[in-house]
Amino acid sequence: MQENLKNRKSKKRGLDEMSPREIVEELDRYVIGQKAAKKSVAIALRNRIRRQKLDEEMAEEVAPKNIIMIGPTGVGKTEIARRLARLANSPFLKVEATKFTEIGYVGRDVESMVRDLVEIAVDMVRMAKIAEIEEKAEQNAEERLLDMLLATMQNVPGEQSRLQDGKDLTKIEKMREKLRKQLRSGMLDKKLVEMEIREHSSPISLQFFEGSSLEELQYSMRDLLSGLTENKAKRRRMPVDEAADYIMQEEEQKLVDMDQVARIALERVEQSGIIFLDEIDKIAGRESGHGPDVSREGVQRDILPIIEGTNVNTRYGMLRTDHILFIAAGAFHVSKPTDLIPELQGRFPIRVEMNSLDENDFVRILQEPKNALIKQYAALLGTEGIKLRFADDAIREISRIACQVNESSENIGARRLHTIVEALLDDISFEGRQRKNKNVKITAAYVRQKVGRIASDKDLSRYIL
Ligand SMILES: Nc1ncnc2c1ncn2[C@@H]1O[C@H](COP(=O)(O)OP(=O)(O)OP(=O)(O)O)[C@@H](O)[C@H]1O
Ligand SMILES: [Mg+2]
Repeated sequence: MQENLKNRKSKKRGLDEMSPREIVEELDRYVIGQKAAKKSVAIALRNRIRRQKLDEEMAEEVAPKNIIMIGPTGVGKTEIARRLARLANSPFLKVEATKFTEIGYVGRDVESMVRDLVEIAVDMVRMAKIAEIEEKAEQNAEERLLDMLLATMQNVPGEQSRLQDGKDLTKIEKMREKLRKQLRSGMLDKKLVEMEIREHSSPISLQFFEGSSLEELQYSMRDLLSGLTENKAKRRRMPVDEAADYIMQEEEQKLVDMDQVARIALERVEQSGIIFLDEIDKIAGRESGHGPDVSREGVQRDILPIIEGTNVNTRYGMLRTDHILFIAAGAFHVSKPTDLIPELQGRFPIRVEMNSLDENDFVRILQEPKNALIKQYAALLGTEGIKLRFADDAIREISRIACQVNESSENIGARRLHTIVEALLDDISFEGRQRKNKNVKITAAYVRQKVGRIASDKDLSRYIL
């Protein structure tokens, strides 16, 4: 039992305490193979923690070793990022490079990724602070609720004379404690109380207008307007449990010092923020001239200073990006890493290649990861009482077919498994709870019968699988 608890605790540990080996182990639970990529990512992450332990002067000198992951489509690049994001207790943002447009064009400018990262950090820190003060907030909220409840009782004619007598304060106290018990037991949940509610709005300050970009300005305007319109108090009657939620929120807002939260969040982003730039290959391409390439190269140029280290104006204050870690990923099917402008290439000193996946990888991907595809389908159909199992040779057969289709048409990596399993199970999914035989075992013969024929027909598989 003790051991068990310890284990669970160790799994909940964040990235900060994990050794590179542990980070890789954690990634192993979701991503099959791709050892080199996992290792590089793990080292880069650990180095950030190491840096923070150096004296200030040295720490300032150590620049993050940005990583670029290169590999064909559907081999786990984004999956690694997704898992890191869950693991990270450092602020982590995953964003597609294709989202951005050159400064001055309509769309998101690249600085917005830093602002988004700050928002994430602010949320993280705020949640942590709320957890710290939760007990206090709960106490305060309870007292306020009791005040309200007592006040309503005093308005009841019969009770009034008794309670307002004044000479018997202990009676009120007794009443209060009785109410407290009832409140805690949930007995009063549906009782109506009247309370003043104020739609909360973030504190407004004109400083926001100093934000440089148009987007920033939009944010500020929204804040300002919401501040003007929503900040009116209204009286409303509502059940106690609902009122409790409101009061709890108000208390939390009172107890959490947002200035402090913002300060900590900025610091965290500066020291340990991570930005995962997906689909970086889509902004590669250097031919200057006309068409979309002009803007692509522009985006690359805009990204440069952020990676190199610059100051970005956010609504919480100025932020230096020198030590943010960038991990980029791209398939580089059409373009090559050398198609990125040289300055950008140089800022990603670590390159890892991701391997394309073979039949044996597929066998493992189908069943090993915690979120493995066949586990997902078994769980989905399980909700309708169907017990879905796969014979070993069926898994092998699915993997073989996936490889075959990947070779004969487009190689879309592990995504092929999704299309095949979907086609394989469509009859069973369609019947669902109406199916008579609830015990379903998928055999290799069934796989061949359902998808084998389609797979061997090149034209057919192009449309269906
Ligand atoms: N190595 C792997 N281990 C486990 N699952 C994988 C692996 N590679 C891919 N998958 C599965 O395949 C799907 C697609 O993978 P992912 O999104 O990581 O592709 P990608 O490498 O980012 O491709 P793209 O270049 O097209 O963005 C995911 O749902 C993931 O579950
Ligand atoms: Mg991807």
